[in-house]
Amino acid sequence: MTARSSLTVVLAAGEGTRMRSSLPKVLHQIAGQSLLAHVLGAAAAGEGSQLAVVIGPDHDAVANEARRVRSDAQIFVQHERLGTAHAVLAAREAIARGADDLLIAFGDTPLISAETFARMRAPLQQGAALAVLGFHAADPTGYGRLVVENGRLVAIREQADASAEERKITLCNAGVMAFDGKGALAIIEKIGNANAKGEYYLTDAVGMVRDLGLEAVVIETSEDEVRGINTKTQLAEAEAVMQARLRKAALEAGVTMIAPETVFLAADTKFGKDVTIEPFVVIGPGVTIDDGAVIHSFTHMIQSTIGKKALVGPYARMRPGSSLGDGAKIGNFVETKSAVIEAGAKVNHLSYVGDAHVGASANLGAGTITCNYDGFLKHKTLIGEGAFIGTNSSLVAPVTIGKGAYIGSGSVITKNVPDDALSVERAQQMIREGGAARYREVKLKEKAKKGK
Ligand code: UD1
Ligand code: CA
Repeated sequence: MTARSSLTVVLAAGEGTRMRSSLPKVLHQIAGQSLLAHVLGAAAAGEGSQLAVVIGPDHDAVANEARRVRSDAQIFVQHERLGTAHAVLAAREAIARGADDLLIAFGDTPLISAETFARMRAPLQQGAALAVLGFHAADPTGYGRLVVENGRLVAIREQADASAEERKITLCNAGVMAFDGKGALAIIEKIGNANAKGEYYLTDAVGMVRDLGLEAVVIETSEDEVRGINTKTQLAEAEAVMQARLRKAALEAGVTMIAPETVFLAADTKFGKDVTIEPFVVIGPGVTIDDGAVIHSFTHMIQSTIGKKALVGPYARMRPGSSLGDGAKIGNFVETKSAVIEAGAKVNHLSYVGDAHVGASANLGAGTITCNYDGFLKHKTLIGEGAFIGTNSSLVAPVTIGKGAYIGSGSVITKNVPDDALSVERAQQMIREGGAARYREVKLKEKAKKGK
């Protein structure tokens, strides 16, 4: 049997005013990714899978985010917010192409999984016209209730239209629906707006499917998977669910975490084998940690690559573009940015390494600073293989330190240092024999005079 084609329509129109933010709701993030990116990531991809995103007017940023995540995303604008059925019809042109399965999802329901989308498509294959994703809500207030009679889904009743009896139903509509693609458009086009809110409710499709003598079924899932986000409180709750999921997946993939509840991961964090993450580590998007690496406590990292058996922290900060080679080490209070630190190199204490390339096995002493910014432009620092940078040195970029070169402690290096050269930049040290004793004598006399 050939695979069924699909079109997923993600509804992402609306301001999300209850977020109290100028950012469109679906661009808020959990686990380092926008809500929209999470949903799009779960939607079917590959051959025979189309994707449409319905956005509000003047929401170019939402369109750009959709295209960034899925370059094949077709964008449609819903010019007036007249309800979920009306929103779906904004993508009429895509729906009319007649994919086998039509899936509808909401952009503000980020915890939905690819498995659930797949599970919803199965009944269509067996002849159902519509599958609705349902869940038992701890508090069903506000959700559409699934009205089931004799084990069959007969209607979805929105909160505002539900009778007192219907409001007692806890089985609710999660918002994800899967239609048999052939008949979907005719059904959705017939939906009216004769209800309490005067909106075109997509949920009315259920009753219509039944009236046509076709079958509508419920696929159940957990409430955690379909948490919708309307407020910052709900955003934080969804973050907690996502973090728990990511930690569990990491543990199950073999990552050692002493206190996983204190480790924050991003949806795209990648781990090799035998990675250890100590308590209180924050990992932002774009981080890859290779086999055997150890991330010590209180480290913060984003868009960085950690090599095999590399050591990071405690208290390290790796900013975007940091790359640590195999066996390399970044110690406490070290900040890196756009820095390639090759295999075996060490930056053990209190340093800033930015816009830099540090050769293999180089050693940067405590307090080494790359002075990469002149107030106007950023410049590069190149440190050769096996170079040794003495403690408290400032390397004023652009500057190149040759392979195997040696920089004396406390130097301010502004000129390139050739391979294997020794460079010290500091005033000559003077010594006066007995000078301290004489100084003490003078000072004690001064103090005694004042005391009189
Ligand atoms: C909707 C469902 C309800 C379900 C709940 C689950 C309908 C009529 N109701 O209610 O049964 O229990 O979700 O969370 O479908 N949208 C548009 N354009 C519109 C209206 C909505 O794009 O004109 C988008 C929103 O951006 C949002 C989604 O559709 O992503 C749901 O809309 P919302 O107004 O939040 O619906 P609910 O009242 O929560
Ligand atoms: Ca909602």
